[in-house]
Amino acid sequence: MNARHEPDTETAQQADASLVDDVRRGLTRHPRTLPPRWLYDDHGSALFDEITRLPEYYPFTAEHSILQAHADEIVTASGATTLVELGSGTSEKTRLLLDAFTSTGQLARFAPVDVSEATLRSAAEQIAGTYPGLEVVPVVGDFTLHLAQLPQGGRRMVAFLGGTIGNLYLEERKAFLGALADLLQPGDSLLLGTDLVKSADRLIAAYDDSQGVTEAFIRNSLTVLNRELGGDFDQAGFSYIPFWDAHMERMDMRLRSEVPQRITLPGADLVLDLAVGEELRVEISTKFRVSKIAAELETAGLAVARVWTDEPGEFALTLAVKS
Ligand code: AVJ
Repeated sequence: MNARHEPDTETAQQADASLVDDVRRGLTRHPRTLPPRWLYDDHGSALFDEITRLPEYYPFTAEHSILQAHADEIVTASGATTLVELGSGTSEKTRLLLDAFTSTGQLARFAPVDVSEATLRSAAEQIAGTYPGLEVVPVVGDFTLHLAQLPQGGRRMVAFLGGTIGNLYLEERKAFLGALADLLQPGDSLLLGTDLVKSADRLIAAYDDSQGVTEAFIRNSLTVLNRELGGDFDQAGFSYIPFWDAHMERMDMRLRSEVPQRITLPGADLVLDLAVGEELRVEISTKFRVSKIAAELETAGLAVARVWTDEPGEFALTLAVKS
């Protein structure tokens, strides 16, 4: 690994401030909402990693199969010399892209970006070990906030895989894609993974798995708030409610208060009185149609070059180029 970007004191304070801001803003509106970024502390990242290995969690397998079948075409079509990966996690699927890049010999640099420092560090070290000629530049940060820290120069492909864009609301997706497009140079591209609309049964199974790993992942948000803000959430007072919102075409993962309860979050200077049945929306996971993806990308100034889907059409990878 050639360089590491530690969050300096100022950015660490900003990160705290934004948790407080997020919590104050989100938990005082209705439905009460938490931004998904706070699900990924080290424990949450480990739980998510476990989710990707669940038999019910088809998005991982589906995207993996697309990359397996088409990584060479993707890499060639991008013409990239730098691969940036947003929300890289363990960078497991990225290896398929890196292997393809290695066989064309075109890649010089890999910049994984992730909020979980522990996950990022071990992934970056492993990648640097496997691909000797590659410059690995990990960036600790939130992909919605730290785009300006991405490495400059060369032709870049920014990979945003896993369907993570679906965790953002429409306005957030617009702001994110717009900011990303502004930052890209003509010829740079975005490789975007999106989960596609499918039957409610299949979707619900993926977010309400039989081993309860997804429930533990969603519940971990309360643990994070207790730890970071001195909160007193009691897991026993909440049940896990995942559902398919057919109108918005998204999964909606909530925790429902089973008793009337007062929650105090001293670190955010917040007291919440929750009625029985009141819900906290912890995460959404929007599902797409290919036409909707293209429309959002084009609005941001990114022209769709190619779309790849898996055999059953459950997941899509779209390559869009800044013009
Ligand atoms: C972050 C988009 C990969 O929404 O499917 C998985 C997160 N949440 N199970 C998704 C998640 C619950 C996941 N992604």
